Amino acid sequence: MANVLRLLSFTAACKRSLTPRFLRTAAKMAAAEKPYVYQHTRMHPALEAMLQREFHMVQPDDLEEYREKVSAIFVFVKPPVTASLVNSLPNLKAVGSCAVGYDHVDLAACAARGVRVGYTPEVLNDTTADMAWALLLASARRVVDGDRVAKDPKTTAFDLNWFGTQVSGTTLGIVGMGRIGLEVAKRARGFDMTILYHNRHRRTKDIEEQVKATYVSSLHDLLGQSDHVVLVAPANEETYHLMGQEQFAAMKKTALFINVSRGTLVDQVALDQALRNGTIAGAGLDVTDPEPLPRDHRLLTAPALTLTPHTASATLHTRSKMVQMTIDNIWAALKGQPMINEVKL
Ligand code: GLV
Repeated sequence: MANVLRLLSFTAACKRSLTPRFLRTAAKMAAAEKPYVYQHTRMHPALEAMLQREFHMVQPDDLEEYREKVSAIFVFVKPPVTASLVNSLPNLKAVGSCAVGYDHVDLAACAARGVRVGYTPEVLNDTTADMAWALLLASARRVVDGDRVAKDPKTTAFDLNWFGTQVSGTTLGIVGMGRIGLEVAKRARGFDMTILYHNRHRRTKDIEEQVKATYVSSLHDLLGQSDHVVLVAPANEETYHLMGQEQFAAMKKTALFINVSRGTLVDQVALDQALRNGTIAGAGLDVTDPEPLPRDHRLLTAPALTLTPHTASATLHTRSKMVQMTIDNIWAALKGQPMINEVKL
């Protein structure tokens, strides 16, 4: 009996100690042990929960309070990680960029401060290649227009000669045969396409054989020979406005142009003209420069243009993998270990 009474009084004492104040203090103590990471981009709640389990996530409004404590920045593709942000965080050790492209990070500023930068290739290859295909098929088969016509209350009969453009069995030109380009090529095989590619460096014979792709050393020639063109190259000084007036003029009039890389690779004035003049048949873009385009931007009213809001990697499945890799990259930097994927500075 005495034991039972002791047990009851112990349980009551435990319950009393679980006051809101006790819980808040316990949460603060637990948070205090976590590294402080500045959250530069808001994410889906499920992804933010992943980050919060690992780190004390500092929100922009609280940055002043925690400036000295922040040891890493978490960022998705925007806002840019500028030199002034990097230099304003005295104990910054890492930038965890949750994206395959890292053109939004001032690498020179990071290098100057010895701040390591992680990024997330590979895990988004499939999802991004899927989006290139979604845009190619949607543009070719006029899915967005078709949806409007099919739902329009004024539609009383379907135009039986409302044509799209052929994709199966045609020639696809891939500009940028990196990891995502290879996935685009693999999918093209399922559509019985002839696959051409242009890349800064020719891929090995094994890889070419694996995806049945033929290297074309001149971009101009590739554009002229392709029925449709998919752009998946990284954004850097060399690729800025890679596609301009001359390049669109080199494409077939019946060709579609797809971009799932970055808006800066395309001269948008030239693309707008190419669409309006019928130099090319259409375009599908997941990316523009800037994003979003100002609402009165001329490109928004160009004919045969399908636009998506930079969602090529946007499935919860893929974004969870990107966030997990970013978490692992940040932890590695904080522990002085090699990151899974680290930008060479
Ligand atoms: C998205 O655009 C990325 O670079 O991952």
